[in-house]
Amino acid sequence: MQSFIQKCRVSCSTKGLCSGLIASTLLLSLLSSCSWTQQTNLGIDTDRSVQEKTLSLVFESFEPKGQAELDRLKQDRTQQFCSTQRGLKDQSQLTQSTTQDQLAEQIRLENQALITPPKDGNYFGDFKRGELIAQDGRGKTWSDPSESPSGGNCYNCHRISKNELSYGTLGPSLYQFAKLRGINSAKDFAQASQNSSTDPLIQYTWGVLMNSKAYNVCTVMPRFGVTLNHKTQGHGGPILNEQQIKDLMSLLLDPRSPVNE
Ligand code: HEC
Repeated sequence: MQSFIQKCRVSCSTKGLCSGLIASTLLLSLLSSCSWTQQTNLGIDTDRSVQEKTLSLVFESFEPKGQAELDRLKQDRTQQFCSTQRGLKDQSQLTQSTTQDQLAEQIRLENQALITPPKDGNYFGDFKRGELIAQDGRGKTWSDPSESPSGGNCYNCHRISKNELSYGTLGPSLYQFAKLRGINSAKDFAQASQNSSTDPLIQYTWGVLMNSKAYNVCTVMPRFGVTLNHKTQGHGGPILNEQQIKDLMSLLLDPRSPVNE
């Protein structure tokens, strides 16, 4: 058990990746991917018992403090599916007429249904504030006041502006995100934003930020804009509020943003 956990720590070297707001979700997914490695060598039953031991170890290792209560260790349907299905066909969620791929698609669609457009129809905010949110890895931990907004922790996984030297590589580089997708000038940007509700790039970017699992059901990217059905992920609301997501939209898509230099 110890050696699996040590193996997993290799992926946690950037900017305190294992601390802060994504710790519990990520820890569970890292641990389960490690037990998957074990399962391919030793068979399904061993894997189940390794998973159970892993979970009880995780539960025993945490104590509730501040807003970080233990209910965040309980997985919702999407997380359960992704923890058990990656290498192992868990029959419990399958019916005779549902294949694993169909179930993945069903869960992806459930995530897609949680995405809502901005209430005032405006998808953009301020790219400078967006950059601060992308750099900020605080939020949802026991020492954060529950009423203060969380950060997005984006640099932990993505390269974004070229001036930031320290970034993670779990996610693809987002440097020149809009430029590489055809938004090269203020005019292009104005045109796209006038048709925000139908523009494919704006809709895709908004959707990924609101709920990444609507695109790739088992992505490690957190679901930033939706309230999940267990309490802690919500804490009265999603990780980021609507204004913060708008600010990140500007960071990624506005041609004046350092991302698109
Ligand atoms: C824990 C790692 C992680 C964090 C934190 C994270 N992402 Fe991601 N992100 C990913 C991964 C991995 C992908 C690749 C897509 C996938 O897995 O389906 C991705 C994909 C994306 C994409 C789509 C890229 C493309 O080329 O289609 C965007 C946009 C994005 N992330 C923006 C953000 C922003 C903005 C933040 C901060 C609010 C953020 N991400 C935080 C891991 C992360």
